[in-house]
This record gives sequence, structure tokens and C-alpha cells, in this order.
Amino acid sequence: MSSALLSPIRLRNGLVARNRVWLAPLTNQQSHDDGVLSTAEQRWLERRAEGGFGVVETCAAHVSQDGQGFDGQLGVWGDHQLPRLRELAAAIAQAGALGLVQLYHGGVRSPSRLTGRRPWSASSFTEAGRPEFEVPRAADVSDIEAAIDAFDQAARRTAAAGFHGVELHGAHGYLLGQFLSSTMNQRTDEWGGSFANRARLIRTIARRVRAATPADFLVGARISPEDFGYARGLDLDESLQLAAWLAEDGVDFLHVSLWDSKKNTAKRPDQHPVPLFRAALPKHVPLVVAGNIWTRAEAEAELERGADFVALGKVAILNPDWPLRAADPSYQPERGPLTPAQLHDLAISDVFVDYLRRFKTIVRDA
Ligand SMILES: Cc1cc2nc3c(=O)[nH]c(=O)nc-3n(C[C@H](O)[C@H](O)[C@H](O)COP(=O)(O)O)c2cc1C
Repeated sequence: MSSALLSPIRLRNGLVARNRVWLAPLTNQQSHDDGVLSTAEQRWLERRAEGGFGVVETCAAHVSQDGQGFDGQLGVWGDHQLPRLRELAAAIAQAGALGLVQLYHGGVRSPSRLTGRRPWSASSFTEAGRPEFEVPRAADVSDIEAAIDAFDQAARRTAAAGFHGVELHGAHGYLLGQFLSSTMNQRTDEWGGSFANRARLIRTIARRVRAATPADFLVGARISPEDFGYARGLDLDESLQLAAWLAEDGVDFLHVSLWDSKKNTAKRPDQHPVPLFRAALPKHVPLVVAGNIWTRAEAEAELERGADFVALGKVAILNPDWPLRAADPSYQPERGPLTPAQLHDLAISDVFVDYLRRFKTIVRDA
């Protein structure tokens, strides 16, 4: 049975994804301490490209040393990282997928333990009930300019490595999300206050990166539409406005991270976010949706709501061949948990298994 989900889609800049199934960005902590891609991390991604994903996106990759948020995080901040990035881009393309790097700065979520520096954010603020929380210093304008420059340089590096594009990580309450937030951003200069000012950082970066990279290179953004986890101080209507602004700024796609795509919005419980974001965006800007999508029927339901791509996270960890196997409408993906040995067979190394232990539904010990 033919399915829009598994049919190709041509993007505005002429690139074609072979289907609408996208590997969600997944932190896996497998890079070397200097941010250089490891063989294990390459294998994890390459295996999903071989399994038929139309788009394969890396984990959140830090654009500057002061923006590192995780142990073993992939880096795109130095030219020493280029040779291995080139090999990954080539491997993903060779397997027929479009390859993207997710560009990230952690802001307050970049601990001094990793960066050797006190974290910084839009403002200084505290978070109750988190003993590990380090109070950030408020950015001065040179920090902001350095971050814009770091995203710009990282995008150029990604293009030079041969990837098809980048995604700016504006979701989940990291640096770009901290500036968007009405609670974490208490600035009174042009980078805070009104939503136009709070959106200035991600919009400036989107425009800079768009201008710095070739026209056939995809520049997209991921956002959290409403509060969840570390993402705080967000408002649905502001997020819809942001979608329209980013489209004006030239983004090639918008990725909304929903955590549970079956849920309606918190602000308007009778409305689902996908049609709202679809309506906020011009037709030529594809909408990517992630959040607890497991089956082909669930993926198709998101396309019917107006999404152009579905991004798969946990199900893609457990089912590297999901897109190939979903050609069979009766396909029932593995739901886990699996043992470390079973995960190894799916190109998940011990390091990644250890990180995944926090998700009890993915790893079980024999
Ligand atoms: C192990 C793990 C690592 C993740 N790492 C990232 C990341 O680096 N960047 C990001 O934007 N989201 C990250 N996410 C969120 C996923 O991209 C996705 O939006 C979320 O897991 C919901 O989709 P799912 O239910 O299909 O897993 C991560 C999620 C998991 C489970």
C-alpha cells in the first residue's frame, strides 16, 4: 500500500528527501573529549541511514566550548573536528539520507565541570530544588555576539563537511530557548523584554546562518511550543509568532518538539499544535513533528494533521530499519526494553547504553 509517509518530498531549495521519516536529534555521549566524532557515534547514525530514514540528524552538537552541555558531546566548534564530520556526512549521503547537524549552545545548561567557566545565560536567575544548578551570570553584549558568531562558524563548518543542513536548537530550554523565555530572560536591553526582543537572538542567528551558507543547504530551527521540562516561560501564541518570523528569516523547515504528539496544546486544550503551526507557516516551509510517535498509523496521523515530516526518537533507537519495515502496514515496531547485548546489535555502544539507562523503557539488564 503506498503511503505519503514513505514517498519522496522535494524541498524548496531542490533537495529531495526519499521519505518523510526523520531521525530525531538524540544525545548519545559517544564523541571524544575534544568533540571529535567517534566511530561508534558514526555507526549509530549510519545504521539509521541504511535503515531508510529520509533525514538523519545528529545529536545536539555544541558550537563553542563554553556551550558544551553533555559529556561526550559532538562538537562543531573547531577545524580539528572537520575530518570526522566529513566522513559522517559522506556515510549518511552514501546511504541515501539527507544529513543534518543540530547546532547547540547550552547556556545555563553548560556546567563549569565541562567548560571550566561559570555558565552564562540571558539573565542571572535561580532554580529551586535543583542542587546541581549553577547560577548563571547575565550575558554581556560580547557574549551574545560571540555566540552568534559561533553558530555562524559552526554552520559554515557543517556545510564545508558536506552535510545537507543544520537545525538551530531553540527547544528544551537551552541558550536560544533561555532568551525566548519570559521567565529566564529578564533583560531590559534589545535582547529582552518584548517577545520581539526575546526572539532577537534566534532570529539573528537564523538570518546570519542563512546568509553564510549555500542556497541548497538547509537551515531549520527546532522549538518547544510550550513549557515542558527545562523549557520554561514559553507561550503558545508567541511560539506561533516565532514560527512565522523564522519563516520570514529564511528557515527551510520548522521542527516542533512536542514530547507527546497525541496531546492538544495546554493553552487551548481543544486545539492540536500541528494545524496551528501549519497555519502559522507559509506552505513552502515544511513542518517537522516529534513526540512519542511509534507506529506508521501514528506517523500518518501527524501528516494528516498537517506535518510534512515525522521525527522519531525512542522508536528509532530500538528499530533502526523502521522506514524500510514500515512499508508493511502491519509492521509492529519493537517497544523495548532490550538488553545491552540486543542494543549492541542495533549499533548502540556501551556508552550510549549507559546514557539510555535513564529511560527504563529502553534498557533492561538481562
Ligand atoms: C536519549 C535521548 C536523547 C535526546 N537528545 C536530544 C538532543 O540532542 N536534541 C534534541 O533536540 N532533542 C533530544 N531529545 C528529544 C528527542 O529528539 C525527541 O524529541 C523526544 O525523544 C520525543 O520523541 P520520541 O518520543 O520519538 O523519542 C532526546 C531524547 C532522548 C530519548
